[in-house]
Amino acid sequence: MILAVYVRNKGDMRVEDIIDIHSHILPGIDDGASSPEAALHMLKEARHQGIREVIATPHYSRRFQNNCPERIRELCGELQKMSREKRLEIRIHSGQEILYSENVPGMIAQGELLTMADSHYVLIEFYPGASYLEILRAVRTLVMEGFSPILAHVERYRALRDEERLEELTGQGAYMQMNFSSVSGNWMNETVRWCRKMLREQYIHFMGTDMHDVTLRKPETEAAVRWMRKKLDQRYMRNLLRGNAEKIIRDEKI
Ligand SMILES: [Fe+2]
Repeated sequence: MILAVYVRNKGDMRVEDIIDIHSHILPGIDDGASSPEAALHMLKEARHQGIREVIATPHYSRRFQNNCPERIRELCGELQKMSREKRLEIRIHSGQEILYSENVPGMIAQGELLTMADSHYVLIEFYPGASYLEILRAVRTLVMEGFSPILAHVERYRALRDEERLEELTGQGAYMQMNFSSVSGNWMNETVRWCRKMLREQYIHFMGTDMHDVTLRKPETEAAVRWMRKKLDQRYMRNLLRGNAEKIIRDEKI
């Protein structure tokens, strides 16, 4: 009889170590979790996918005018309490995914919008058709105001498909977040290929599930992590899945 034994190399990433910096888990506040029960279901799935900490990032956009930080903090607290009661070992931090407009830097500075885990990092999104100049100006403005912008699901913007642009934006003080689901698709897909290339070249700083539910936009990391284990430098991978996010939580420079 042949016994298959999996030996873990020293320094291997445990799947259950992930910190998810992009999620829509707070109930009834945007197009994410529809109820507290749905939110708990999402967290349970996330835990199965190796996630042990989550930054809740409800939308601030034209459609979802969430400019009441106290409400977001309150919902985070309630969900944390419920997950503890269910013995779900998952930690929740407050944050927000902010659709950029010229009012945004002032609103963050005034405390009307939330930063990531109360750090100086902010998760920013744009319309998919945003121009490079628009994104560059936003990054410069936020950096001048003392914030570190993280570009949400960076694979979504056509204007950033040129890797030199990612490099330039990073040089200006921006950080890049990619969705797990964009890495695990079919290799024939142009976006999947681009995402994998950007990861291999280490242009990406964070991964996120961008989970909204447990069906169409669910927390799914496994397939992407499997690919990463095979193709990425393991130290880079640990920072991508956990180390860099820990620095957000501790409000340290990456
Ligand atoms: Fe999102």
